[in-house]
Amino acid sequence: MSGEYLSAVILAAGKGKRMDPLHSKVLQTILGEPMLALALRSIEPLCRERVVLVTGHCAEAVEQSFPNLAHVRQPAQLGTADAVRCALAALPPDTDRFLVVNGDMPLLQTATLEKFVHEAGDADVAFATIRLQNTEGYGRVVRKGGEVVAIVEQKDYNPTAYGDPDNEVNAGLYLFNTEAARQLLPLIQPSAVTGEYYITDLVALGLEKGLRVVAICMEDAERLIGVNTPAELVRAEELLRRKVVSELLARGVILHAPDAVRVSPFVEISPGAVIHGPCDIAGATVIGPGAVVEPFCHIRRSLVGAEVYVAPYSMLEDARLERSARVGPYARLRPGSSIGEAAHVGNFVELKKTVLGAHAKANHLSYLGDAEIGANVNIGAGTITCNYDGHVKHQTVIGQGAFIGSNSALVAPVEVGAEALVGAGSVITENVPADSLALARGRQVNLRRKGDDKS
Ligand code: UD1
Ligand code: CA
Repeated sequence: MSGEYLSAVILAAGKGKRMDPLHSKVLQTILGEPMLALALRSIEPLCRERVVLVTGHCAEAVEQSFPNLAHVRQPAQLGTADAVRCALAALPPDTDRFLVVNGDMPLLQTATLEKFVHEAGDADVAFATIRLQNTEGYGRVVRKGGEVVAIVEQKDYNPTAYGDPDNEVNAGLYLFNTEAARQLLPLIQPSAVTGEYYITDLVALGLEKGLRVVAICMEDAERLIGVNTPAELVRAEELLRRKVVSELLARGVILHAPDAVRVSPFVEISPGAVIHGPCDIAGATVIGPGAVVEPFCHIRRSLVGAEVYVAPYSMLEDARLERSARVGPYARLRPGSSIGEAAHVGNFVELKKTVLGAHAKANHLSYLGDAEIGANVNIGAGTITCNYDGHVKHQTVIGQGAFIGSNSALVAPVEVGAEALVGAGSVITENVPADSLALARGRQVNLRRKGDDKS
């Protein structure tokens, strides 16, 4: 047995008829992550760089979501055996053996896969079985005198021929010797019931040809469930959510309202950080020590530094918050927002592609887009960077220590120099030199009211 030349095929071409037919099932999310990303995360450590994805239904969307993964298209969804046949040509040529994994197994663990590969030994065909209370939709494992003889799909199962099914089913995880697969796949006949070519037929075929076929009954059935329906998705999501919550607690992360904490397994949270539910945190997010995330926050792919405070109802996406920054309540940090050390972003403030320097403040009701804002700048309430001229976006640059009066409009491209002061209510269309005062608004006039004129 050699582990060196192990490759993997992930089946992701199916129509997912029992779910949303307009989108790919494997892109449906669990805790904010596509199911396929969750499966891939467990598979990659075993055969990095040697994974082939089979796409078909909604192929472009799936391929675009995983641009670094080798893929092969299955032209028509003729069944799982046909999908594997398509993948054969795309496997690295030195592949001795390859795993086949259904793309709808989001709870898969690397340890489970390792155990499976280990137990498969040098089998020509190996597959994982699980025992389930509800076997609806799964292929039945048929044994005679304890020895496996076939997998029979539920739709094709005939109790008169096979006897009453027990609760052992096919998990959807296989290991094939490449030569054996090449030999057997062309022999598969379509199902008389569905017309599909089933990968599961390789079991009976392998036995018929005198090959070594092994069924490995796996204990952690919950890790191997397939997601075919919205109800199964809910169930898988809840199982994974609870697992992540208990792992976070075990690491020393402090969770409030843990039943409403939704954190994906891609998120890294330092011990001692405090997270309040309800929250939804996903993507490659990192939350540093001493950080606090208050309730009702939505965070994606962001870096939340040490001692950062995220007040309730804040939304962070591809954002970076340096140490001791404070944002929210109701802050919206869109992609490319970078909040400097100890800087403040207050309520109803939106940032996009904007760097806010250390100790700078934008505390109330602002839109700051495509801007570079220096350290110690104060952005008055209601300030807007007018970054869009109807065709393209322009930059606003504000030097350190500048003070932007409330309700100012900074019409980009424009620069406000360091330590400059912009009077409240200004519409700034020209650069403001450093250390100067800019006033760009109508001067106030006080006139006598008409009715008051007694002369
Ligand atoms: C499959 C197994 C069943 C097993 C169950 C475990 C077959 C015939 N049956 O059934 O024995 O108990 O998984 O969850 O394999 N796919 C393609 N191309 C196709 C058809 C499907 O790539 O032409 C992909 C799907 O995207 C999916 C995977 O193969 O990721 C499995 O297909 P699915 O339709 O979910 O099979 P099940 O009916 O669940
Ligand atoms: Ca399935």
